[in-house]
Amino acid sequence: MNTLITIREYETAARAVLDPVHFDYVSGGARDEVTLRENEAAYARLALLPRVLRGNPKRTLETRLLNSRASMPIILSPTAFHKLMTGDGELATARAAAAADTIMITGMAATVAVADVVAAARAAGGGDVWFQLYLQTRNDITAEIVSRATDAGVTAVVVTVDSPVLGAGDRNIRNGFTDLPPGLACENLRGLGGDPTDRVRSIELSAELSWEHLDRLRALTELPIVLKGTAHPDDARLGIEHGADAIMVSNHGGRQLDGIPATVDLLPDVVAAVDGRVPVLVDGGIRRGTDVAKALALGASAIGIGRPIMWGLAAAGEQGARNVLEILRSELDHTLALLGVESPAELGSDWVVTKP
Ligand SMILES: Cc1cc2nc3c(=O)[nH]c(=O)nc-3n(C[C@H](O)[C@H](O)[C@H](O)COP(=O)(O)O)c2cc1C
Repeated sequence: MNTLITIREYETAARAVLDPVHFDYVSGGARDEVTLRENEAAYARLALLPRVLRGNPKRTLETRLLNSRASMPIILSPTAFHKLMTGDGELATARAAAAADTIMITGMAATVAVADVVAAARAAGGGDVWFQLYLQTRNDITAEIVSRATDAGVTAVVVTVDSPVLGAGDRNIRNGFTDLPPGLACENLRGLGGDPTDRVRSIELSAELSWEHLDRLRALTELPIVLKGTAHPDDARLGIEHGADAIMVSNHGGRQLDGIPATVDLLPDVVAAVDGRVPVLVDGGIRRGTDVAKALALGASAIGIGRPIMWGLAAAGEQGARNVLEILRSELDHTLALLGVESPAELGSDWVVTKP
């Protein structure tokens, strides 16, 4: 698999090996997939402006985020059902993230329980694991899920707030993809009353949720809370008022509201609204080290990748996910060298120009 040298090639390799229904599930977006395409296209509209002869002999990508550290500002966004990609599922992902010494956000809809994910990361020598949560209308159920994740040893809770209802993936509807294959389940939801084997109904999503539910979560846990899925600058401000320790600008990889802008286009206004009070992260459409550099220059402290890891897992299991992370690391390092900077922290909006 070392013949694959780009993220795009991992996508092609994943398409070749996956059941087409599962490939569509991972790679598709909501409705007409306008936002899915925009997430990538917006990076292509931005250009990088390097500086020269700055006498920088060495570079570091080391990153600190909340109470965690990572060897680079590239972390794993939460994605559901890794066992659809490879037999070991999230265990393979956790080992790959640990090998890359970066943060994995494991999903509430994981096919391996959070305790086993954290144990796998630790056994592989490190890498913090954060837990992604969908707030539940019943606070006792949210509390039980968070307590399982806390006991497991996660170091942050990432609350996804862009999903009052399930996104409408036309590909999934056309393919009739509702049931998980036999043997697969949302392992974090065992014993909570629902059917953890039901892809569509196992996780309660609710339009009834309000900032009060975030307040209740804030009262439940001392772990840092990352608010994932904010687009409007006012929601970023409200999130901080309601106790969020970081903001993750995300449109769920174009899987929820089709027509919402690309995340890198939303980023500058959110960064301005947050005004340095908490770190801002971003995900969606990042396929190259140059994309990472553009996001960092526009004020992100770190970026997340979703589909690239899934494609890596599908193409070559744990090793595939490791390769994806190392491709992006090496592309980012190379980009920083060409830009004339020593570290991501040096990047600012001066390094980016919007193409006419
Ligand atoms: C197959 C798949 C499943 C996902 N599941 C979740 C999820 O359960 N919770 C969540 O917050 N985000 C989920 N996401 C969104 C990702 O966290 C992330 O925002 C998105 O994938 C980033 O865009 P990218 O795939 O272009 O990198 C999912 C994305 C994909 C592709």
